[in-house]
Amino acid sequence: MAIVIRNGVIANAYGCFRADILIENDRIAQIESSIECANAECIDAEGCFVMPGFIDTHTHFDLDTGSAVTADDFVTGTRAAILGGTTTILDFATQDRDGTLTQAYEKWQDKARGSSCNYGFHMAMARFDESVSEEMQKMHDIGITSYKLYMVYDSLKVDDGAIYMALKRAKELGSIIGVHCENYDLLKAINTELHKNGAGVDPYSHALSRPNEVEAEAVAKLIYIARLADAPVNIVHLSTEEAMLEVRRHRACFEKPYIYVETCPQYLLLNDDKYHDDGRRYIMSPPLRKQKDVEALWDALEDGNVDTIGTDHCSFTLAQKNKCDYSDVPNGIPGVMYRPSIMLSEGLLGGRCSIEKLVKLMSYNPAKLYGLTDRGEIKVGAFADMTIWSKESEHVLTDTNHAHNCDYSPYAGLTVRGTIRDVILNGRHVVHEGELLVSGSGHYIARDEYTDL
Ligand code: URP
Ligand code: ZN
Ligand code: ZN
Repeated sequence: MAIVIRNGVIANAYGCFRADILIENDRIAQIESSIECANAECIDAEGCFVMPGFIDTHTHFDLDTGSAVTADDFVTGTRAAILGGTTTILDFATQDRDGTLTQAYEKWQDKARGSSCNYGFHMAMARFDESVSEEMQKMHDIGITSYKLYMVYDSLKVDDGAIYMALKRAKELGSIIGVHCENYDLLKAINTELHKNGAGVDPYSHALSRPNEVEAEAVAKLIYIARLADAPVNIVHLSTEEAMLEVRRHRACFEKPYIYVETCPQYLLLNDDKYHDDGRRYIMSPPLRKQKDVEALWDALEDGNVDTIGTDHCSFTLAQKNKCDYSDVPNGIPGVMYRPSIMLSEGLLGGRCSIEKLVKLMSYNPAKLYGLTDRGEIKVGAFADMTIWSKESEHVLTDTNHAHNCDYSPYAGLTVRGTIRDVILNGRHVVHEGELLVSGSGHYIARDEYTDL
């Protein structure tokens, strides 16, 4: 059945206007000042913003780190995502060091069956050699046009030469690589120091073990590697003022290669004080930073130096996190459900950025950067993925009022103004006032090539 969304304000990355929207099948068929509802389901969006469905560029569902498996799999994770207004997630299919990219792709396709929002995969490569380089053509052909490389973690770390070669290869294929930037040798040495001193096993020591310089040095190095390779690169989950300064320095002098920046809500909302109060909940990498870093990221967001906001959702239960030594605690926090509502509440209603900017960071830019053609904007012919948000209510987040398969919330105590009221996915009305009307209707999106922002 067709759907008409009436009386709402359409918010795109490039402007807002009041209009009605007709949805037929899975696409937007018409946008006019007034559309009749005959023979269609009518959704009244009076007083609401109607936005292109949000795209989370960074999730880890059903990830086995070797010592723990994430609490959310695709069924629970995508359910939380869609209830929170996210219509597409990009998860990290992760290659085993001795495995192939194809094996990782097939494994992730199996994991993702039954998802309630659309999904695609970045390919996290645990090595780069001739055979991987060849396989990247196959990945391109099956719709994987983005990758992640890690400078850390024993099972994933690749060296600088591999990053250089992989960046060049990705560029040839119209693909883009995101890099986890931390200097592994440095953080391991500091970790050893902390353990020698005996006192350094509490959660705050997690932050001490990965100081700002550990990220900033790695970001500076990555920028030089990208310049040598003459290839664009994305810095994922950037968290410090110092790393942002490295990006600013590059952007001030060079137009290309493009150095893109992703940050996450946790680095915009929380600081390292959290490590003093049941701090295991907040153990993630990079760690939470000082308030001056939080402010620097908001400044960067406001002046155009942040390109995307992803959650880095990687959830573990309190029992899984209940370890005496910070270095034994599995890294990551839940967040996929909260990103649209907390960014709208803190960013828009908090007076820190416009609705257009938020749509750009959470929908339009992710769609362009990651080849999600005909998504990320509300226009005739685009896929009908839409999120309707009303600013007319508020609630306080708790450890339990969410849909993550996780027994705590890193944002417990935060007052969120506004609510995700309705969600349209592939032309179907799937969420209304916190209720999932249709589950399991997400599908895999084979993505096109990367586009410069
Ligand atoms: O602590 C985090 N972020 N865990 C997820 C893996 C990663 O590095 O993104
Ligand atoms: Zn990472
Ligand atoms: Zn991550």
